[in-house]
Amino acid sequence: MVLILLGPPGVGKGTQGAFLCEEKGWTRLATGDLLRAARRDETELGKKAQEFMDAGDLVPDEIIVGMVRERLRSMPADAGVVFDGFPRTLPQARALDGVLEETGRSLDAVLLFEAPDEVLVKRISGRRHAPKSGRVYNVHFDPPAQEGVCDESGEALVHRSDDRPETVRRRLEVYRSSTAPLIDYYEAASTELVRIDGDRDMAAVRDSMLAAVETLESRG
Ligand code: AP5
Repeated sequence: MVLILLGPPGVGKGTQGAFLCEEKGWTRLATGDLLRAARRDETELGKKAQEFMDAGDLVPDEIIVGMVRERLRSMPADAGVVFDGFPRTLPQARALDGVLEETGRSLDAVLLFEAPDEVLVKRISGRRHAPKSGRVYNVHFDPPAQEGVCDESGEALVHRSDDRPETVRRRLEVYRSSTAPLIDYYEAASTELVRIDGDRDMAAVRDSMLAAVETLESRG
């Protein structure tokens, strides 16, 4: 399966994508996580991405597409892939079509997660993550056993630098102007687009997602 998880910041793409990949043994290709790792490692790419991310803007398409192409080429052609946070612009979506073709793959479906802005803002304000283990928590909805400490790695949890309220507002605007048009793009291409109500507890969202994926798999 090759799937895209589409939806605004904070809707739960990372949470549900991690669950889906663990359940199915697929690979999650999350461009935000790759960029944050590059920043942490202070690579050239990380340095270039930093100012865009901190402003809540998108990192230029050529950087992102190059990064995704390199990852996909290094993966076995039959590996299940779940794209999280990519594509985010029309040029990225067109580039993905080309990269999938080049690497002998095809897109099976887009899962579109939706929730109102006030829910997204509350979730993002409570998000904390463990930079090394990658585990994501939420102080309101999914707290760690000990405040501020990752249950798995024992490392200190941090608040993402782009989760400040003014940056979140910008990210929501950018989603509406640059990323939401992908819904029409995929509908026009007759790609299967499954809408999932993300404004429910994590287990309910996960069950809907799994049911949708199982329907897609049963169709072969
Ligand atoms: P990225 O890291 O992709 O961020 P995003 O798309 O803005 O999404 P988030 O990570 O904020 O949210 P999510 O939907 O994954 O929610 P999560 O599961 O964490 O991108 C960051 C930046 O990198 C961009 O702004 C841009 O600068 C750059 N970038 C990345 N990709 C790019 C691209 N392709 N092109 C250009 N630039 C790019 O959940 C949020 C919180 O809510 C968590 O705390 C979680 O525990 C909690 N939660 C989840 N589900 C529920 C639920 N059902 N109920 C209650 N709480 C929940």
